[in-house]
Amino acid sequence: MSFENIDWIWKNGEIIPWADATVHVSAHGLHYGSGVFEGVRCYETETGPAIFRLREHLERLDASAAVYNIKIPYSVEALEDSVCELITRNGFSSCYVRPIVYMGSASLGVHPGKCPVEVAMMAWPWAAYLGAEGLEKGVRITVSPWRKFHSSMMPTTAKACGQYLNSILAVQDAFSRGYDEALLLDMHGSLAEGSGENLFVIRDGKIVTNKADDSILMGITRDSAIEIAKELGFSVEAKSLELNDLLGADEAFFTGTAAEITPIREVDGKVIGEGKRGPVTKQIQDTFFDAVAGRDARFSKWLHPVMRTVAA
Ligand SMILES: Cc1ncc(COP(=O)(O)O)c(C=O)c1O
Repeated sequence: MSFENIDWIWKNGEIIPWADATVHVSAHGLHYGSGVFEGVRCYETETGPAIFRLREHLERLDASAAVYNIKIPYSVEALEDSVCELITRNGFSSCYVRPIVYMGSASLGVHPGKCPVEVAMMAWPWAAYLGAEGLEKGVRITVSPWRKFHSSMMPTTAKACGQYLNSILAVQDAFSRGYDEALLLDMHGSLAEGSGENLFVIRDGKIVTNKADDSILMGITRDSAIEIAKELGFSVEAKSLELNDLLGADEAFFTGTAAEITPIREVDGKVIGEGKRGPVTKQIQDTFFDAVAGRDARFSKWLHPVMRTVAA
């Protein structure tokens, strides 16, 4: 991943040069993680770049902000247009988009008080998060010694900046022990999610993923994978999962905007299924990549063309 080719940043309603998009060291968000963000992908399609499920991501941004009493001074529609403008100005045909809303500089009491709400968006090209090889062959993961926090501590359904310290601990530990990604258990010891992904397991052709009560972010890719799997004729159930469900699975995969649909081939050295991308995972993954690239009309409702807004 590189920020080298980003010329423009959107900040507080304006497109400004990369070098000018700075944050003061006194910003509340920097000290306490008081902010919320999104991760969205824009894909190349035959008719130009299109953003995958943009509306849902911006609605989740709003919902995350509401949890922390942050009032975003832009409508979802206005932000949709701004994302398109930003991608066009930077000249990207595909990219990752990171909208962030954070408490700016005014005071440093823990209560954000009168700190202004700052809104910014970046876009940059970002290849497969867990590697191209991971997408094809599957990744090796470890069960983290760090538990996922429970929603009674901070709602896991909100995508808030400070909440990611928990994911950082888990992924640092996983990398230090040579794994590609961490899987966190919830406070009861059931499976929660990856440091930035939701989890699916497949056994005897049945697909299972866990749900909001299991300390997860309600992923938009998770929702897409469920819809795709059902469309392909598979049964999908949302229920709590235990470690044995994963270890005894025929196949397992992660979903996430960054990670897309990444097979899991090994958990702490225990091979899952045949230790490679399984056939059900491949079908869902292939359909997902067709959907995001505009090659499957059943899912064209998920695509927000960049040019539509800019031309209007
Ligand atoms: C902790 C966590 N869980 C799950 C996901 C997957 O969510 P989505 O598919 O909406 O990107 C993400 C990524 O945003 C995440 O950070």
